[in-house]
Amino acid sequence: MVQTDENPFEGTDAIFEAKQPLKKDSFDPDTIFHREDEIELYVNALQDVVVGHDPNNVFVYGPTGVGKTAVTKWVRDKLLEKATEQSVPLEIIGPVNCRNYKSSYRLVSRLVNEFRDPGDELPKSGYSTDTVFEFLYEEIESVGGNVVIILDEIDNIPPDARNDFLYDLPRAEASENAAIDDARIGLIGISNDLKFVDSLEPKVKSTLGEREIKFGPYDADELRDILGYYASVSFHDGVLSDDVIPLAAAFTAQERGDVRQGLKILEKAGEYARMDDSEQVTEAHTRRATETIETDEILDCFDNDLTRQQALTYIATTLAIIEPEHDARTKRIYQLYTSLSEAIGSETRSERKIYEFLDQLSMQGFVRSEDHNQGRGGGRRFIYEVTDDPADIINAVFKSDYQESLPNNIWDILQVYKEGEASSFEAPDPNDDVQRQIWQFT
Ligand SMILES: Nc1ncnc2c1ncn2[C@@H]1O[C@H](COP(=O)(O)OP(=O)(O)OP(=O)(O)O)[C@@H](O)[C@H]1O
Ligand SMILES: [Mg+2]
Repeated sequence: MVQTDENPFEGTDAIFEAKQPLKKDSFDPDTIFHREDEIELYVNALQDVVVGHDPNNVFVYGPTGVGKTAVTKWVRDKLLEKATEQSVPLEIIGPVNCRNYKSSYRLVSRLVNEFRDPGDELPKSGYSTDTVFEFLYEEIESVGGNVVIILDEIDNIPPDARNDFLYDLPRAEASENAAIDDARIGLIGISNDLKFVDSLEPKVKSTLGEREIKFGPYDADELRDILGYYASVSFHDGVLSDDVIPLAAAFTAQERGDVRQGLKILEKAGEYARMDDSEQVTEAHTRRATETIETDEILDCFDNDLTRQQALTYIATTLAIIEPEHDARTKRIYQLYTSLSEAIGSETRSERKIYEFLDQLSMQGFVRSEDHNQGRGGGRRFIYEVTDDPADIINAVFKSDYQESLPNNIWDILQVYKEGEASSFEAPDPNDDVQRQIWQFT
């Protein structure tokens, strides 16, 4: 029983000294670990700027959470410091995250506003895109000297800016249309989508990729140092038991060498310790954190990345996969999608639409398909897989807004799937209405 005069909240935090460094991208570390080679390449590419030559364009790429943005900010600050010391005129804009801008108008006006005083900023609409481009060139010309623009997550650049903007901007000084004589523009593009560059027109590709810097995943030893640093600024002294950092580092290295995932594990482990009223974060807390991290990441996708229709298609694909002795073919996925939609009272789209949703999911890396050619006259059929463990996906669905869509017997079927005893089940025939009822939707 809870006493009404008792307040259940704690006034202090025995575990965390500061949580912000562990949070997503809201903290700039003052030390960068293990990126000496990449920093050297960066410095090499930008050295010209410091002595007053024209800047190179730089393209930085590598998987998520491996320090591309962090290193870029660090190099930016050093570059500015040096240029100021040398009295070389230099303006650096960004990193501006392209993900936040849905049209080139929005993106370019954001860049214009970087140069302008708050009272003088461009409205959200009202000019043509060409006009905001002209404004940008005017601003660049009026500051003069070298102007370096850093575009982060450039794979998310608005489609209408993809080729024109990326081609025109770095060579505006040479163009007759753009009123730029004094200024010199350098573009730094950062991407975690390796296919992005291939999707660009060749002339854009060669401009942007003048200098390329590749960031690889971190190994366990490197992650130990990085996570150790974050732990030292986030946890109270002596709170972490010795196993925590090595365990989190080893787990993260095995997954994809992504610091952000390691930071999430540390935060979670600390929260488990706090929930247990423990004075220490133990190995057990950390293990628990690694066990739930996959589910949490998928849940995060349900909350932030997937539309409702994509989510239902993704769940239907997962059900089709764990269904005993049954390939996840598009037809079957569509049948399950329909049942899920009905269960949750959601609008049901056509089968053709499902192909589109599956394509989108595949592009975002949630599913992949294998093309099974049926031979002459047999046509083609696709069999789908999910890229995460189906059990993690189901657990995430259970915690998400789509919980109600799940069939009642989901845990039984999942259990059978996990035990690999599918053979004791009859393979349901998707064309047979009765046999379709393996799933019990209410
Ligand atoms: N070498 C490092 N030293 C210190 N902190 C690092 C290092 N590498 C990454 N980090 C930290 O890890 C987190 C993720 O790094 P960052 O944001 O730079 O990744 P990214 O490569 O830009 O990923 P994405 O492609 O998802 O944007 C940040 O909090 C960053 O400060
Ligand atoms: Mg980044």
